[in-house]
Amino acid sequence: MSCARITLILMLFSSSKAWHCSRSEPLGLITEDIRSWQISASSSYPNRWDRYCSTNYARVYETGTKAWCAKRKSPSEWIQVDLGVAASISGVMTQGRCDGREWVTSFKISYSHDAFHWKYVNDAYDNHRLFEGNIDSCSVRHSYIDKPVIGRFLRFHTISWKGHPSMRVEILGCQPCKQPLALPPYAKTTASSESSPNKRNSPSISGTAQDSYLLTKGAWCAQKSDKQPWLQIDVGPPTILTAVSTKGLGEFRKKRWVTHFNISYANSTTGPWYNYSESGNDYSFTANTDKYTERRHYFASPFKARFIRFYPTKWKGKQPCMRAGVFGCPQNGICQKGYLRVAEDSPCVENIAYGRKSYVNNKRHFKRHVGEWSGSNQAQRAVDGDENQSIHHCTILDNFYVSRPFWMVDLGHSTPISGVVIVTWQGKNLKTNSPVKSSYYDYMRNLRKLTVYVSSEKRRSKKVEKIAKESNKCGYVTSVNEALFQRRIHIECMKPMNGRYLYIEAEGAEDRWSKVFSAVLCEVMAYS
Ligand SMILES: *[C@@H]1O[C@H](CO)[C@@H](O)[C@H](O)[C@H]1NC(C)=O
Ligand SMILES: *[C@@H]1O[C@H](CO)[C@@H](O)[C@H](O)[C@H]1NC(C)=O
Ligand SMILES: *[C@@H]1O[C@H](CO)[C@@H](O)[C@H](O)[C@H]1NC(C)=O
Ligand SMILES: *[C@@H]1O[C@H](CO)[C@@H](O)[C@H](O)[C@H]1NC(C)=O
Repeated sequence: MSCARITLILMLFSSSKAWHCSRSEPLGLITEDIRSWQISASSSYPNRWDRYCSTNYARVYETGTKAWCAKRKSPSEWIQVDLGVAASISGVMTQGRCDGREWVTSFKISYSHDAFHWKYVNDAYDNHRLFEGNIDSCSVRHSYIDKPVIGRFLRFHTISWKGHPSMRVEILGCQPCKQPLALPPYAKTTASSESSPNKRNSPSISGTAQDSYLLTKGAWCAQKSDKQPWLQIDVGPPTILTAVSTKGLGEFRKKRWVTHFNISYANSTTGPWYNYSESGNDYSFTANTDKYTERRHYFASPFKARFIRFYPTKWKGKQPCMRAGVFGCPQNGICQKGYLRVAEDSPCVENIAYGRKSYVNNKRHFKRHVGEWSGSNQAQRAVDGDENQSIHHCTILDNFYVSRPFWMVDLGHSTPISGVVIVTWQGKNLKTNSPVKSSYYDYMRNLRKLTVYVSSEKRRSKKVEKIAKESNKCGYVTSVNEALFQRRIHIECMKPMNGRYLYIEAEGAEDRWSKVFSAVLCEVMAYS
């Protein structure tokens, strides 16, 4: 096992914070989210002797008299469930065969991270706990595991039974690292090339990377001439990834799906890229055999990354077409620097303005107004990832020396922009420096409007008119209804925008007795 892998497994299993489960629920035997290949047993009663006996029937609420039945009547038989991703397990449900004759009356439970090293669930005296099983063949029994255990694999050991050791099971708990991450619209997808599989017959299938989410009905398709096609998913902040899933092209007359693919992953599109490997070898994933069935792979070696690329290596049809998903542990709480939640409960997405070069068209000295503070490089404070609303952490825009003050950030390259979140300070609640409070408070009340522009043109001059035109306008917020005086202002662009430079212009109210106005930008965050 590589060092990196051990570190990740430790991250997955030892961080108690990740295991704060607010809710314990059935983990997928009943719903069949746990597929038949994830269930195995020490032995099974041959299907040809009893066709209602199969490991795949070891599911609570299974129909008829279906169940898993051990081959032998022995107290050392077990049925094993691979949960795919580590779970915190707080209980189990068990049921007999519902045939009036066969059920398990007592059992033990063991669990494992790797299906190799096993531990038993113990009782308060540190002995293997003997769970009371069922009392008839059909009623469902629930047993708590008082101190939840963490594992990916779970075994039920049949210790005693009535008739025959036959059972149905379900596992209760939570899996914080089995959440879908490649969800539209947050996860961004791109590809080496794109093509519509057949424009004339299926004009609704775009074949673009945007159609590659598992939730769509189409798929992404590469061009036929693409020698090394790939599909890339950006999950946002570097995240522990535990599984991938693929589907074929849905609504299309012809058959198109990927049968084999490789994966590589990185934190930046410029690399370094790592090939996903198991036991030291690059791993080739076997994928789909039809249009609609989702095929999922759980990683034996979870990894942490922001970008994941699928490289189709073999496919059905003239070009590779696929839908893809990624699963892992989404971030809870505050996003790491460089990412933001646009709405309170939305996932962390990249703040494309973070740490970028910024500029204000106003080179005045702030000393007179803000005491000891010197204004050098102050434009940068709006993109330093620090939302602290102390004025010393913020950028000030005002009209002392320019009539049209604006702040600008260079995003580095032309990029789509969907909106901007601005954290402001309103001159209130400042613990120190009360004179600052009063003057700034008035200046800020003179502010009438903040307008956001996106342009491919760089302006370091006072000629803001060239930028401040309708076609470059993303959106604005005004003092009407106090919208401008919120701590956090969200401006969603009125139309899709694309550009390298983002501008914020401040305007004052004409009818105030003082014509001096200020806007204090503590942080400006932009998202695609
Ligand atoms: C990505 O960055 C995280 C730290 O945020 C690091 O733990 C991880 O190993 C990196 N992954 C790759 C693929 O470089
Ligand atoms: C990943 O796999 C590709 C194709 O097999 C290979 O060319 C490349 O060198 C590999 N990268 C690493 C980092 O091993
Ligand atoms: C995919 O992985 C296989 C090994 O399983 C390797 O032979 C092949 O070169 C890889 N292809 C790409 C495109 O990375
Ligand atoms: C904000 O910055 C000020 C001055 O640097 C500091 O005293 C204060 O503790 C900071 N507040 C937070 C919430 O970090």
